[in-house]
Amino acid sequence: MRNPTTNEGKLRSAQWFESDSIGGFVARSWTKNQGYPHHLYKDRPVIGICNTWSELTPCNGHFRILAESVKRGVYEAGGFPLEFPVMSLGEALMRPTTMLFRNLAAMDVEESIRANPLDGVVLLTGCDKTTPSTIMGAASVDLPTIVVSGGAMLNGKFRGRDIGSGTDVWKFNDDLRAGVMSPAEYEEAEACMSRSDGNCMTMGTASTMACMVEALGLTLPGGAAIPAPDARRKRLAHLAGNRIVEMVREELRLSQILTRQALENAIMVNAAVGGSTNLIVHLLAIAGRVGVPLALEDFDRLGSHLPLLVNLMPSGEFLMEDFYYAGGLPVVIQELKAHLHMDTITVNGKSHAENTAGAPCYNREVIASFDKPVMPAAGIAVLRGNLAEHGAIIKPSAASPHLLQHRGRAVVFEDIEHYHARVDDPDLEIDENSVMVLKGIGPVGYPGMPEAGNMSLPQKLLARGVRDVVRISDGRMSGTAFGAVVLHVSPESAIGGTLALVQDGDWIELDAPNRRLHLDVPDEELARRRAAWRPPQPRHQRGYASLYVRHVQQAHLGVDFDFLVGSSGSVVDRESHA
Ligand code: FES
Repeated sequence: MRNPTTNEGKLRSAQWFESDSIGGFVARSWTKNQGYPHHLYKDRPVIGICNTWSELTPCNGHFRILAESVKRGVYEAGGFPLEFPVMSLGEALMRPTTMLFRNLAAMDVEESIRANPLDGVVLLTGCDKTTPSTIMGAASVDLPTIVVSGGAMLNGKFRGRDIGSGTDVWKFNDDLRAGVMSPAEYEEAEACMSRSDGNCMTMGTASTMACMVEALGLTLPGGAAIPAPDARRKRLAHLAGNRIVEMVREELRLSQILTRQALENAIMVNAAVGGSTNLIVHLLAIAGRVGVPLALEDFDRLGSHLPLLVNLMPSGEFLMEDFYYAGGLPVVIQELKAHLHMDTITVNGKSHAENTAGAPCYNREVIASFDKPVMPAAGIAVLRGNLAEHGAIIKPSAASPHLLQHRGRAVVFEDIEHYHARVDDPDLEIDENSVMVLKGIGPVGYPGMPEAGNMSLPQKLLARGVRDVVRISDGRMSGTAFGAVVLHVSPESAIGGTLALVQDGDWIELDAPNRRLHLDVPDEELARRRAAWRPPQPRHQRGYASLYVRHVQQAHLGVDFDFLVGSSGSVVDRESHA
């Protein structure tokens, strides 16, 4: 990448490493304490390996080894790799929710890249938010960038059957609460579920993000599905190290890959793989960083009519390991070729058409053909109505079909604490026709928009064998979850959206085929309730959470901070030394 400020035809990193100033001495001298010989500092693309490794992010626990493979590739291609850590977001451990910190991590990535002598970047991503946060940050700098996903865990194995991360957790939890699974069996299942390196192996958010990355063209072909422990994952990392050096020489920037066409491809592929609803907020945020217009309706218009082709949990039966052995994402891209923008460029400089031509499918049970899909129309539906003026979403493929058109009485939980206190109250008036409504889990209200929208059903319904009811909230749900769950209601309850006005016993109509979500309460009564409504007290008076609630945007805009939308480029025009 040539330096746009000096136009001297030099690499960006030359401003640091080829300078005769004090700054040049400092940059070289201090890094030489790592043992780097002098020849590495001249006319070699410096490649940052942005590592989200952390023992607190177990899905990314193998990334230091993966980084070594990238380094080999960078050196081999004549580059100079420098690995750096960024904030890592571990879905399994962080509280109150990793989504609260996605934008913070994106700021860390953006500033770390811009402030350092880097010409290109390799993003090592895995657990859910580590992918969108790093891409958002990198997009606001816009250097040549390539993504290496860490890959999914091997299939869970429990008592002779395959079990999937997350998806079977919800089932086990329901079975435990319903008394059909013992505590000892529950404990045994823990080690059986997570038995190798890697992220969740269902088509949850992490695997959805890996597929998104491949559909966007941000990783080498076939990169989404290789299992984490498979040696071909390391080979991919090595090749990515080779390729990023070439990308710097070709000046192939992230913004040249992240086009409107690429974003549309990601939406369509997400429908076909049965990907997580979380894709929406992340893709909207990424689009905002590169200045590509993208709206909530685009997800419905482009994706909802497309068939489900990949038979993976939570929408189907199989797991990511099976997906890889069946041929992985190149097969899906080929099946969708009449719909996708097949000529969009990817990080290897070739189009999807070139990268996937003739991709063989080895198992049609796992990856169906377009003509004989798993399900005919599987994409995410965007709902509108007086209950969601700016939109809400539902994933029909994960819902019980009989609930997709439903009218029921609201059972309202004012916040998550109220839900926990009330859900198993034996006196709670609720049945399978009720509509559970949870307020206060939106971006501002929680804060951070947690994955609490797929709230567990009351024990008394579970004991009767009820496994799904309509649930509505302003939060998200785990990509591994399922059910007739309406999410991302915007505007959220904490800022006075109509959701805030719902009361016990109100009639609510969900009509997913006609994209309608309606609170059947007369306008005069809603006006009366609105006049009496008072916003909840802010939970945080200081620190990051306080900054977050002041600047976070609503779900239909991607939940990015208002001041982070857009790009600042890669130029730093002031030195750190006089
Ligand atoms: Fe990390 Fe699921 S907990 S991907």
